[in-house]
Amino acid sequence: MLLPALAELVDDKVWLAPLAGVTDKAFRAVCKRMGADVMVSEMVSADGLLHKPAPSLANARFDDSQRPFGIQLFGSRPDIMARALDVVLPLRPDFIDVNMGCPVKKVVNRGAGSALMREPQRAADIVRAMKNALAGAGLPLSVKFRSGWDTHSVNAVEFGLRMQEAGADILVLHARTRTQMYGGKADWALIAALALAVDVPVVGNGDIWEPEDVDDMRRQTGCSAVMVGRGVMGRPWLFAQIARFRLTGQADVISCKLKVECIRDHYRMTMADKGEVTAMKEMRSHLAWYTKGYAGGAAVRRLVNRSDDREEALAAVEALLLTQETDGS
Ligand SMILES: Cc1cc2nc3c(=O)[nH]c(=O)nc-3n(C[C@H](O)[C@H](O)[C@H](O)COP(=O)(O)O)c2cc1C
Repeated sequence: MLLPALAELVDDKVWLAPLAGVTDKAFRAVCKRMGADVMVSEMVSADGLLHKPAPSLANARFDDSQRPFGIQLFGSRPDIMARALDVVLPLRPDFIDVNMGCPVKKVVNRGAGSALMREPQRAADIVRAMKNALAGAGLPLSVKFRSGWDTHSVNAVEFGLRMQEAGADILVLHARTRTQMYGGKADWALIAALALAVDVPVVGNGDIWEPEDVDDMRRQTGCSAVMVGRGVMGRPWLFAQIARFRLTGQADVISCKLKVECIRDHYRMTMADKGEVTAMKEMRSHLAWYTKGYAGGAAVRRLVNRSDDREEALAAVEALLLTQETDGS
């Protein structure tokens, strides 16, 4: 029997994946409205929190409406990871997640992210130290990791067992190796093997692109919850489609009008959170994702990248969406 707090995180839930540079407060707000159940911050450096807290803390901020919410930390030293909790716990997250999957060189070269999959002892020490530090707060700790370093060293099941033994309450598996980065297909069979081997709940991650993929992954793997990553970039309404599909077995087409409203809301919230100049810069990427797959999208993206006029950019995106029947996916 799961404790109620844990059930709220994993029982048949759909998570929004942490996506650095994408899933900021405004985008998460859009995803929450669309029906995402559980959210995790972008990765936050434990070193940064201790030595220069302001910018790192900015990436950990969230609204109460985004609960249940986890803050994701990355780092390579158990003592620093544990001490960093003192800095983020005052934000009152619902759980803490440890990043053991980031493939980026800058992170891996410092022994953090997916480099920890090659050092399971150090990874277990990190989990133990963080669990001790979290004991007073009583918050669950999740660990997000990959299939392994490369195809010759796939160790997700052994690694997951060790993290469980060290005290992890939830295991999140992105079923690709570090060398795969984001290419190739995620190996759902490995999620199934992990779910079978461990007692703690498993969150499956990798290649959820369409509404039906959520139930397929759950059926094929026996995972407790599912995490959606790139599938929602430019398509936050995928969460609404997933919820509807699970209810009715039908994949709803989202109207262009609703998409346009959602994009305008997203822009408004980004401006409110980050100011007009930063919002314009950052929304260019989002507007590019929102227009992906539409005939004539490239010309609109060129205009958006050149324009310093928010209304001109939004009007061009709106015209593109409203004049085409395709759902752009
Ligand atoms: C742009 C981008 C940023 C990401 N940032 C993070 C991150 O901060 N922390 C993390 O654990 N994973 C991060 N990931 C990995 C995703 O959370 C997820 O595991 C991966 O995209 C696989 O899921 P998908 O196939 O549904 O996209 C990132 C992925 C992308 C594409």
